Amino acid sequence: MKRFRRLRTTETIRTLVRETHIQKENLIYPLFVIEGENVKNPVPSMPEIYQYSVDRLDEILTQVSESGISGVLLFGIPKAKDEYATSAYDPDGITQKAVKYIKKNYPEVLVIADVCLCEYTSHGHCGIVDNGVILNDETLPYLCRMAVSLAQAGADMIAPSDMMDGRVSAIRNALDENGFMHIPIMAYSAKFASGYYSPFRDAAQSAPCFGDRKSYQMDYANGREALREIEADIQEGADIIMVKPALAYLDIVREATQFGVPVAVYNVSGEYAMVKSASQNGWIDERKIVTENIIAMKRAGADIIITYHALDMAKWLEE
Ligand code: PBG
Ligand code: ZN
Repeated sequence: MKRFRRLRTTETIRTLVRETHIQKENLIYPLFVIEGENVKNPVPSMPEIYQYSVDRLDEILTQVSESGISGVLLFGIPKAKDEYATSAYDPDGITQKAVKYIKKNYPEVLVIADVCLCEYTSHGHCGIVDNGVILNDETLPYLCRMAVSLAQAGADMIAPSDMMDGRVSAIRNALDENGFMHIPIMAYSAKFASGYYSPFRDAAQSAPCFGDRKSYQMDYANGREALREIEADIQEGADIIMVKPALAYLDIVREATQFGVPVAVYNVSGEYAMVKSASQNGWIDERKIVTENIIAMKRAGADIIITYHALDMAKWLEE
């Protein structure tokens, strides 16, 4: 008889043969920064997640810094929105101010700047809109301006999440031309048009005011197409590729490892909301479920995990 149970008898033996481990250094915490003073707004659909004004960031950044996780993925919520996402590339825009503040006071915290127009456009789409159509090529220069402006503010890494074609090479060229050839790009390569983003759209106030994102984000029925997206982003100069969301897409994560570049996965807002609501009801054990989920992401092949659970997970790893 094959006796698998021999290696399951004690915790010591189980630890000895454990294949997958979570390291806090692999974790990134998404952070929402909003204009204003003394603001700490709870996000209703995301328990324990807040929008912070820059003057209130210390509270969360101290935790990030002490936790041992690598850094934050930054999202800005501007005062003013318009058709051309002007605040996205304003040197004094909210995200630029936040980047400067974090790098000045917490230089050890890695700042990854999300690059997309949807938080800054009046219509809430990720690109420039004409007659109800989300334009591709016309959007690229705006993304480039935003990326360069965030690099100028001091961002350590640029993460385009818009899903326009050709944006990785456009942003790579723009960064290089402006002296930022050393700044890496983490591309949201396989970003699916997912129902799991709705709590985020409350948090970032970025819901589209007409239509949906299906003409630029991927159809979740398509696995092979995801690999072509990833391949194209790598050819265009992506240093790290991302799969998003996480849990329903671990098959894509596994396949994404074949290209040899680091793979990030985004454990998104809806996934967070499901775990939080069930655990607040006492229906599941939050710590057990989060640990199991993050191990699953790593086992599938993710190197980097972007998650709203990052600070809790880091704490649990210490215990
Ligand atoms: C914006 C963006 C979204 C997320 C990250 N960047 C939402 C969207 O595409 O509407 C989702 C993150 C989350 O759900 O936690 N391009
Ligand atoms: Zn967007």
